[in-house]
Amino acid sequence: MKYNLIIADDDADFGHKAKTAFYDALNGINRPKVILPTGNTPAPFYKDLRESGDCPSFTYIALDEYTGLMEDDKRLFKKWLAQEILDPLEIKVRWTFNSAANPACEIEKMRALFFKNGHADVAILGIGENGHVGFNEPGSPFNESVRHVRLTEETRKANMAYWGEQYGVMPTHALTLGIADLIESKKTILLARGAAKAEILQRALHGEITTDVPASYLQRQENVTIVADRAAAQLLPH
Ligand code: F6R
Repeated sequence: MKYNLIIADDDADFGHKAKTAFYDALNGINRPKVILPTGNTPAPFYKDLRESGDCPSFTYIALDEYTGLMEDDKRLFKKWLAQEILDPLEIKVRWTFNSAANPACEIEKMRALFFKNGHADVAILGIGENGHVGFNEPGSPFNESVRHVRLTEETRKANMAYWGEQYGVMPTHALTLGIADLIESKKTILLARGAAKAEILQRALHGEITTDVPASYLQRQENVTIVADRAAAQLLPH
């Protein structure tokens, strides 16, 4: 598989290199549409973007969102991203999911936006230790678009760590862009930090292309850039 590998020395370097890769990807695109992830991985990248103050404007496309939460719940991914990056950068156009609404309607809404405006120009993604991207868990078909999914216990536990138990029971379901939507993205930047991601990153990029490792769809994508710290990249050939 051909991909551009960028290795970072520490968190500050990771943030800076991810931002540079992002700006390179945006270069020359008029009114770009960008998928952004939540999670721990992108934190240094968002910090660098906030502090640089020169980020071009873009349309934000939600990668995923819990369902069944009230619209004022602190755990909503759209609130997380609003706080972390979208408000500071004054990104106004946001394609998000309404967690409290009927998921079927939200799926239709997002599909209609893609149909009318086209898919993402740049997808920025993280990877789960089981190879998930968005909430596309192992077994997710590569040809499915936006969908409503049940979260695995593993993912619920990992997500619980973001919030702590005081927020109550973790949601059991979520809306996610499907792999078919991610495949339509013109460019992809996959972010990975930490040794816990080393093995799955190697499998996803160099192992069998299989729905058992959802991120392995990337092997068939053009324009893939991996930004990884040394710990996450340790098993990749470079
Ligand atoms: C987040 C998302 C997830 C995360 C993945 C890695 O919107 O869709 O796929 O990117 O679970 O999470 P972290 O970065 O916390 O290790």
